Amino acid sequence: MANSVLEVDNVTKTFPGVVANEDVSLTLNEGEIHCLLGENGAGKSTLVNMVFGLYRPDRGTIRVRGQDAHFEDSGDAIARGIGMVHQHFQLIPVFTVAENIILGNEVTKGALLDLAAARRQIHALAERYGLAVDPDATVGDLSVGEQQRVELVKALFRDADILILDEPTAVLTPGEVDDFFGVVQSLTQQGKSIIFITHKLREVLAVADRITVLRAGRVVGSTTAEGTTQQSLANLMVGRDVVFQVEKTTAQPGAAAMQTRGLRVQDDRGLETVTGLDMEVRSGEIFGIAGVEGNGQRELVEAVCGMRPATGGRVEMLGRDTTDWNPRRVNELGVAHIPENRSKHGVVAQYSIADNLVLNRYSQTKFSRRGVRNTSAIDTEAAALMEQFDVRATGASAALSTLSGGNQQKVVVARELTGDLRILVVAQPTRGLDVGSIEFIHRQIIELRDRGAAVLLVSAELDEIMALSDRIGVMYRGRLAATVDAADATREELGLLMATGSSSATDREQQ
Ligand SMILES: Nc1ncnc2c1ncn2[C@@H]1O[C@H](COP(=O)(O)OP(=O)(O)OP(=O)(O)O)[C@@H](O)[C@H]1O
Ligand SMILES: [Mg+2]
Repeated sequence: MANSVLEVDNVTKTFPGVVANEDVSLTLNEGEIHCLLGENGAGKSTLVNMVFGLYRPDRGTIRVRGQDAHFEDSGDAIARGIGMVHQHFQLIPVFTVAENIILGNEVTKGALLDLAAARRQIHALAERYGLAVDPDATVGDLSVGEQQRVELVKALFRDADILILDEPTAVLTPGEVDDFFGVVQSLTQQGKSIIFITHKLREVLAVADRITVLRAGRVVGSTTAEGTTQQSLANLMVGRDVVFQVEKTTAQPGAAAMQTRGLRVQDDRGLETVTGLDMEVRSGEIFGIAGVEGNGQRELVEAVCGMRPATGGRVEMLGRDTTDWNPRRVNELGVAHIPENRSKHGVVAQYSIADNLVLNRYSQTKFSRRGVRNTSAIDTEAAALMEQFDVRATGASAALSTLSGGNQQKVVVARELTGDLRILVVAQPTRGLDVGSIEFIHRQIIELRDRGAAVLLVSAELDEIMALSDRIGVMYRGRLAATVDAADATREELGLLMATGSSSATDREQQ
């Protein structure tokens, strides 16, 4: 029989007004990957945060290698061999990789930090598990995938043999996901045990030894990858059938609603990442931008929304030259924006859910008159939106920060999709959302298109781009390398265009 390294036994955890975990039990065996699945707000992060000593259970016990764990804080969990890579990384950008890894765990030699020894150890770990990291690189310069490897090395550096990974693949590009699973495999082969949280059912079926599904804080099922399908997992999670296939009719596009001509934009470091981009998005169509992250997508989105200045070229929306407009003016023209980085641009975490839901409409007479807020109108609007978008919370007055990651996302989407919209600019709309919510948001975007809005969609998920778009532009080194009809596009052709900026087909035409 397999050795269990971790046992969670009938654990209950409540927050004011919510039972986040109720009588949850699960065991983690040595060398296995145990997937934790569930809707947004089901209680996954709460559960693993208790295992990592960040919260204490109200009732029930957690045992590590047979011994009761009464963790006061995460230091106690680390001392017992538990490591965690959080949903949001916790590295310090101005420090080097080595400095980040030894932070709080100094390899001391006398009173001096022995960086040389730490570096050697990091190299050894990197070698052993296939985790390419450069100890001397500055963390702020690294890609998301590289930063995640640093978090893993940091946990391994502290001798973790139980690893908790909370939605590690949500932020990775498809190539990085493959590398990541290579690392995970070498970890389990060498005896590490892993709790893995993800919303991507395909990943679950590919890597899980066992699967536990939570719904509303309770375990509703436990199975193996062989014994199940995506459809039955989705059903277990949300308690109903989920349609994976996006259903939509052929687009009926009208005139161009948004155009860029020779657009040039720089990133934060002053490098030009949008390098003379021509693009046209028509009303009544979804124009998807595919591309490897870092090819200028982020700067393009910020520039058309007025958040980043163009250094050349122009942006036109609804017949107006909006190149130098600020975000508010762009918004008032009828342009909504669901930003990629919600915590930075989308929400104010300490405000209530209600205030976050009307953040862009505060000044409307409906919600305030002569500077006095109409609280009851705001609350009524908020309650309706929360119901429509299925935001799971104790009430509209709760602080946004108390919501689960996916429910915070739904608040931003609800707000932006409300009102008189002519153009929607949306980046990574379903990152971190459960399958039921993804289905819902996809339907909302298509309905918006069918009402005549122009949609610019940027997503790192090629599946999402292919399923939703009417036309697809492949962004490569700051320009559109090609624009194709979504109906004729193949994964292979798009993949090739994303990687090289040209496809064999276009090369053939040129010959
Ligand atoms: N610090 C907190 N204070 C109050 N409520 C909280 C707190 N943390 C979590 N909750 C609530 O507990 C429930 C479970 O949240 P949790 O973050 O564990 O969900 P999750 O399964 O990780 O969801 P997601 O997939 O969206 O990340 C939610 O209703 C959430 O609002
Ligand atoms: Mg979570």
